[in-house]
Amino acid sequence: MDIQLTINDIPLTVPEGTSILDAARTVNIDIPTLCHLKLNEMHYNNNIASCRVCVVEVEGRRNLASSCSTPVASGMVVKTDSLRAIQARRAMVELLLSDHPKSCLTCAKNMDCDLRALAAELGVRAISYEG
Ligand code: SF4
Ligand code: FES
Repeated sequence: MDIQLTINDIPLTVPEGTSILDAARTVNIDIPTLCHLKLNEMHYNNNIASCRVCVVEVEGRRNLASSCSTPVASGMVVKTDSLRAIQARRAMVELLLSDHPKSCLTCAKNMDCDLRALAAELGVRAISYEG
């Protein structure tokens, strides 16, 4: 069965069971992810939803939803780029970095690090949390 919903004011139709993340990707809306990993060719789907950097606002829900693990529903209205969602992502990245070696300059992952790239994209300049 197909499900109709709206993401960032774009109406779309996707098969039932699709995650909000995958639905957004069908219309080239980028939602950041860290813990989510989907390797279709290996039938591997790491869907533990633990990092919470992919959160989005769903109209009518009090809490933000992790888009990688939340399936679409008929009539759902999703905002991926609201201030609340962006602030929550930023707080999650700060929390992750607060308990992380502060060694980007000497780290082998330096030029190819999703966490570092996301921190830069979200404008993280200082960590507000203790490790
Ligand atoms: S480059 Fe990435 S993995 Fe390496 S220390 Fe920086 S944030 Fe951590
Ligand atoms: S990507 Fe980590 S919770 Fe969705």
